[in-house]
Amino acid sequence: MAVLRPRVHFTARRFWLNDPNGLVFVGGRYHVFFQHNPRAGNHGYMSWGHASSVDLLRWVEHEVALPWREGLDVFSGSAVVDWRNTSGLGEGGPPVVAMFTGNGFYHQAQYLAVSRDGGESWAFGPPEPVLDEGKQDFRDPKVFWHEPSGGWVSVVVHPDERQVGVYTSPDLRVWSRVSVFGPAGGVAGIWEVPDLFPLVVAGQKRWVLKVDVFEGGPQGGTGAQYWVGDFDGRAFTPSQGARWADAGKDFYAAITFSDLPQPGRRVWLGWLNNWVYANHLPTQPWQGVLTVPRELTLVPDGAGWVLAQVPVRELDALRHVALRLPDGEVLKVGPGVPLDLRLPAAPWTLELRSSGGEEARLWLDGAGLHLTRGAPEGLDGFAGTFTAALPDAAGEVRVLLDACTLEVFAAGGRVAFTQLLLPLEPISALRLSGADGRGWTLRATQDP
Ligand code: FRU
Repeated sequence: MAVLRPRVHFTARRFWLNDPNGLVFVGGRYHVFFQHNPRAGNHGYMSWGHASSVDLLRWVEHEVALPWREGLDVFSGSAVVDWRNTSGLGEGGPPVVAMFTGNGFYHQAQYLAVSRDGGESWAFGPPEPVLDEGKQDFRDPKVFWHEPSGGWVSVVVHPDERQVGVYTSPDLRVWSRVSVFGPAGGVAGIWEVPDLFPLVVAGQKRWVLKVDVFEGGPQGGTGAQYWVGDFDGRAFTPSQGARWADAGKDFYAAITFSDLPQPGRRVWLGWLNNWVYANHLPTQPWQGVLTVPRELTLVPDGAGWVLAQVPVRELDALRHVALRLPDGEVLKVGPGVPLDLRLPAAPWTLELRSSGGEEARLWLDGAGLHLTRGAPEGLDGFAGTFTAALPDAAGEVRVLLDACTLEVFAAGGRVAFTQLLLPLEPISALRLSGADGRGWTLRATQDP
């Protein structure tokens, strides 16, 4: 079986990848760190791998930034530019400071690491944790500068309690617990990877709290939920109930970039996977892929605010060719050529085929968006049909297909539907049929 490596989506050159970590823009580059096993294709020897990009589109992988050490995994966390050198870790310029979870023997606590060359090379910070409650599970710090209170805030998850702790600090080194959120929303599984960030809508700032659940996600297994509300520098108060950030089965552990140069811009990316089968995917020599970077906004609906996500506009720089596709006819495409299709809100069916036959089918009808995907034998929880409900005004449906990744955005991004595919042979043909039989003009991506 030959599962192709995605071309636009980031994968590690070799071996295991899970959560994105430490997303930060500094020195003219977007840095992505990621949970990485530099030795094998499964979760273990956890380290921060490192990649960077000047355009959010083409990624260059660097050396491991924060390696596993005997007795301490480097688990998930975040990074910020410490512009005022509040931490005192800078030498001749603002340091980039990462806050990550050290996973020891039945013990998790938060540690610092520092880069003094604009995010290129990294060293572990003070050897002692900066935030330690003596707990077995306490992880995934997401740190940000809170301008109104002139200090740092970090949200850290208490997985078993289904709670997000909010901590503040003047200097990234001394932290005080100021509030706790939860349990709330989806609580069937432990909580992981929180993020808390503002979005400005019609001149008014609202806050989004996202936290992942390990079980009971929208399609079973892991998933991402969020609330919209207020944050006063100490406590988050939701103004509406929990919603799913993505209706698909494979969207997890997303966090947003820090220090983006465009004011008010919010971009996140997640791990395109589900812990139900993540360790068993037959994609060697790489194992694990990140979503495309997605731009976030809030859109009102009857019940409050919906988080809308669309692929960042930087992806439009990809060169495209037009494909003319008669309705219901099979069109051959280069195996593994990424596709960026824009389809109408009216019913259609898109079959994705390989030399071995139909591999997956995506369709839109009155009940919403559906995907049927197959799987290699023995991969539990992968094969099946998955449905996402759509609001009445679904708008254009954008379908990004890149080898084994499928990301669908509908209703202006209010619905995201992210799914891995495991075609037994690379997808090499499409068949698209709709109601009016008029045929289709589609865009394929060239030369990513
Ligand atoms: C989420 C997670 C985090 C943890 C990391 C370990 O996928 O379980 O909670 O820090 O992965 O790799």
